[in-house]
Amino acid sequence: MVDPYEKIPEKSDPFWFEDVSLPRFESLEENIKSDVVVVGGGITGIASAYLLSQQNMNVALLESSRLLNGATGHTTAKVTAQHSLIYDELLNNFGYNVARMYYEANTDALHLVEKIITDEKIDCDFEKQDAFLYSTSGDYKVKLENEYKAYDRLNIKGQLTSKIPFDLSIENALMMENQAQFHPLKYLSKLVDILKERGVKIYEDTTAINVETDDSTKTQTVITRNDKRIQCNHVLICSHFPFYEGRGLYFSRLYAERSYAMALETKMAYPGGMYLSVDQPTRSIRSAKLNNKEVTIIGGEEHKTGQGGDMIEHYRALKRFSDSLYGEKSYTILNRWSTQDLVTLDKIPYIGPITKGQPNVLVATGYRKWGMTNSHVAAQIMVDNILGNINHAAEIFSPQRFQADPSLKKFFLENLDVAKHLIKGKIEPAHATIDELENDEGAIVKINGERKGAYRDEEGEVHIVDTTCTHAGCEVNWNSGERSWDCPCHGSRFSYTGDVLEGPAEKPLAKHDFSSFDVFDDEKTGY
Ligand code: FES
Repeated sequence: MVDPYEKIPEKSDPFWFEDVSLPRFESLEENIKSDVVVVGGGITGIASAYLLSQQNMNVALLESSRLLNGATGHTTAKVTAQHSLIYDELLNNFGYNVARMYYEANTDALHLVEKIITDEKIDCDFEKQDAFLYSTSGDYKVKLENEYKAYDRLNIKGQLTSKIPFDLSIENALMMENQAQFHPLKYLSKLVDILKERGVKIYEDTTAINVETDDSTKTQTVITRNDKRIQCNHVLICSHFPFYEGRGLYFSRLYAERSYAMALETKMAYPGGMYLSVDQPTRSIRSAKLNNKEVTIIGGEEHKTGQGGDMIEHYRALKRFSDSLYGEKSYTILNRWSTQDLVTLDKIPYIGPITKGQPNVLVATGYRKWGMTNSHVAAQIMVDNILGNINHAAEIFSPQRFQADPSLKKFFLENLDVAKHLIKGKIEPAHATIDELENDEGAIVKINGERKGAYRDEEGEVHIVDTTCTHAGCEVNWNSGERSWDCPCHGSRFSYTGDVLEGPAEKPLAKHDFSSFDVFDDEKTGY
């Protein structure tokens, strides 16, 4: 049998990066002052800085690596209030007001994106599209019918149908009309240009590690890894996983999920619309333009970080889905990429003051992969908070909200899952010996009787790291798709040399010099 992976290209950047060039910015090398410090150079940070600078506020924007290199640059960029199955659940758990407010806030966010694009004349392939959820099984057919009833109660324009314009065997589909899609990097790179023109101070390769609050002067100080300090009145934490948690214990209230995407050049013209299956595993379909050429983006295969098994299997599954959609010989895969997003206990993002005791330190996280609108919900709520404007959606997104059910139940389930992985990882046998590792292969091995992570790179050099996550001690797993060590507990990720790729971990995995080992255990078991 032909291995379908042979036709999948090497790991690559999302194609959004191909027709956009982003400016570079120096790192922060001095102590400065600002009205607001925005930490995180993704869509939330940039949109917030844009709205703040519009009010003539003095803003500094810090990014730990490069702007837009995180989840924003890896999105499928649907700008919609149709966030998979959500409204029936919100209605049942929290009632009409919360469900309706969630819809209104995300619809307002879509309109805000559209207004910014119009006002600033941004050429970013923005186009209105109807969004569809579809089911392929009886169980999910019923869920979709219930979602439609929720639309009806919430006065959301929707339509239940039995057909979508793809040759897929579906049970039913639910349309939300007049949603949108765009090229996120074209949009955001223009906003970055505007920030520069407005004098926003932007720093890349600048990692914020702490916030100190002076209660007497009501000022905040953001401290960077190289001990530079920025004094300000407000801090916006838009760093995906909050780099600073205060006493908010966010790591116990968020979990990380990975998902996968591929861009296809197809022989068939795209029929229009944006699609998402509600059955598991999920499948997402939309069109986009690359150098004015139409392409299809296929996505899905989400799983909790560090718990996805062989990552290449996820791309193979998307390839099989693409075969069923277009026919095996009727398309070419241009790029493949994966991304990670955070999910809150009740599926509503945490946006607002990080704790009651630090009202001027605001956080935005937990978008559940719906970051194109939720980012603008967050930007608007945080900017209104700073300006003292009333924002009716603020309460439902507040990180301080407490819903006994289902959040409490989910809290125990999630933390039980963490505890399970904490123990399981310690007793799990090694997966390979050093000798068995091919070039470009990584695995848990046993050296001098101790569990280690080993990766043999394409030149044959072996990189050894400690596999105990520096956040809270769970055991990381090898991610063959991204060549990273991923933690199954709270989603931290590390490069094969141990450097932190994604938090909450702040410290790298301990590295070991391969040549310093003299005893290599050739048994895989023994733990
Ligand atoms: Fe929390 Fe690894 S991310 S233990």
